[in-house]
Amino acid sequence: MSDFFAHETAVIDEGCEIGAGTKIWHFSHIMPNCVLGEKCNIGQNVVISPKVILGKNVKVQNNVSIYEGVTCDDDVFLGPSMVFTNVINPRSAVNRKNEYLKTHVGQGASIGANATIVCGHNIGKYAFIGAGAVVTKEVPDYALVVGNPARQMGWMSEFGHRLNFDAEGFALCEESGEKYKLENNKVSKI
Ligand SMILES: CC(C)(COP(=O)(O)OP(=O)(O)OC[C@H]1O[C@@H](n2cnc3c(N)ncnc32)[C@H](O)[C@@H]1OP(=O)(O)O)[C@@H](O)C(=O)NCCC(=O)NCCS
Repeated sequence: MSDFFAHETAVIDEGCEIGAGTKIWHFSHIMPNCVLGEKCNIGQNVVISPKVILGKNVKVQNNVSIYEGVTCDDDVFLGPSMVFTNVINPRSAVNRKNEYLKTHVGQGASIGANATIVCGHNIGKYAFIGAGAVVTKEVPDYALVVGNPARQMGWMSEFGHRLNFDAEGFALCEESGEKYKLENNKVSKI
């Protein structure tokens, strides 16, 4: 294991790989065989289930559970008390441990406080999920979705600003000045 920080109340199970500079705060539990990249921040009271893979600089706010079958790329932000799921039709008396649905969160995506991600729906890179949204469908790259069920209300830049596309399909990020193109309902940075 590399040079990372874990508060004395954190529990890290066997077989985990934790990148340099990662911090794991009070009462958090990293279960067996997880891989956490460099410079992640794992807040208070977080549970990361077995074999979960997180990229670099993933920020996990307090009270988040990341279940088996979830993967997050670099620079993902998981807001406080957001919820993943991994069984689509749970019944206490039926064992569905071999039926976990996978959910992938793309690079730079942000998930707002208290949002719920119904399993099996991937979240595109730099997508933005509003606070309290319930995601029931795939979310495209750079899409901003809100509400229950989550509906797309626009597009967001990599710096987290609304992209207002002109008639030719171009938009600038107000903070970075970076330019984006909307074509065939897909956004790319140019
Ligand atoms: C989604 C979000 C980015 C939108 O911000 P914005 O572009 O400034 O949007 P506005 O505040 O101008 O709101 C535009 C409309 O969307 C609605 N809206 C905004 N956020 C919403 C949300 N999370 N869910 C449902 N509707 C929302 C507003 O009520 C408003 O509706 P109206 O036009 O009918 O009045 C922001 O509201 C949000 O949810 N951020 C996440 C915050 C968070 O969880 N942070 C975690 C770290 S602390």
